[in-house]
Amino acid sequence: MWESDGDLLARVDKNKMPRHVAIIMDGNGRWANGLGLLRNAGHLAGVKTLKNILKTAVNLKLEVLTVYAFSTENWKRPHSEVDFLMNLFSEYLEREKLEMHENNVRIKFLGRTEDFSPALQNLIHDSIELMKNNTGVIFNVAADYGGQDEIVRAAQKLAQRVANGELSPENISTQLFENELDTAGQPPVDLLIRTSGDLRVSNFLLWQVAYAEFWFTDTPWPSFTPEEFVSALVDFGKRTRRFGALNT
Ligand code: IPE
Ligand code: IPE
Ligand code: MG
Repeated sequence: MWESDGDLLARVDKNKMPRHVAIIMDGNGRWANGLGLLRNAGHLAGVKTLKNILKTAVNLKLEVLTVYAFSTENWKRPHSEVDFLMNLFSEYLEREKLEMHENNVRIKFLGRTEDFSPALQNLIHDSIELMKNNTGVIFNVAADYGGQDEIVRAAQKLAQRVANGELSPENISTQLFENELDTAGQPPVDLLIRTSGDLRVSNFLLWQVAYAEFWFTDTPWPSFTPEEFVSALVDFGKRTRRFGALNT
């Protein structure tokens, strides 16, 4: 089991915890370049950060942690970087899946994944199967994921049901639509974190962030620590959320 850092965790008020935290793990390349290294060295370092943050999420008993690992637009990068990232995903899953399982993590994947190699697709499938009955943190890995693509896929599934005569258009509700998203059954994002200074969502969870609190830091992902993660959660606890209503 992963040991917990009690002092750090004690900073978080359990009654003010977000249920669902999503992270845009950005800045690997810039971090590496700043040290005179190749971009891929940044991706390698980023995996270590991910492991530490997942561990913290487990210890905090967070309900859902979603991380952006590869966007539908990231295919536009040079082949060498895309290949490196694909190999890194495989190595990461192969190496970490048992330890995640021992820690009661339930891994899921958001996105298309069918353009990945058959070997990586099998590994994804096996990891999901291995952890499907776990009851701890839901760990969503967004890979070949785009928020627009997810919404279009959901619309296609509903349109197919209409075409089959199983559904009338006027019965399409927000709830029904949500049931077709990759995050079906999960709570919406409460807190969205983006590392490395850019202030944008880059096609991440467009539907699910409707009322999320946003938290940005200049720290590049490889330098992001459990301490900073906890600071984001503490900040979240101080926010006033109105969901369109008035404070009473
Ligand atoms: C995030 O870091 C990881 C992925 C997109 C796969 P980047 O690779 O985007 O690094 P920067 O933002 O170019 O520094
Ligand atoms: C978003 O970061 C995707 C991931 C973190 C996986 P990008 O680096 O691809 O986003 P842009 O290009 O800066 O918007
Ligand atoms: Mg980037």
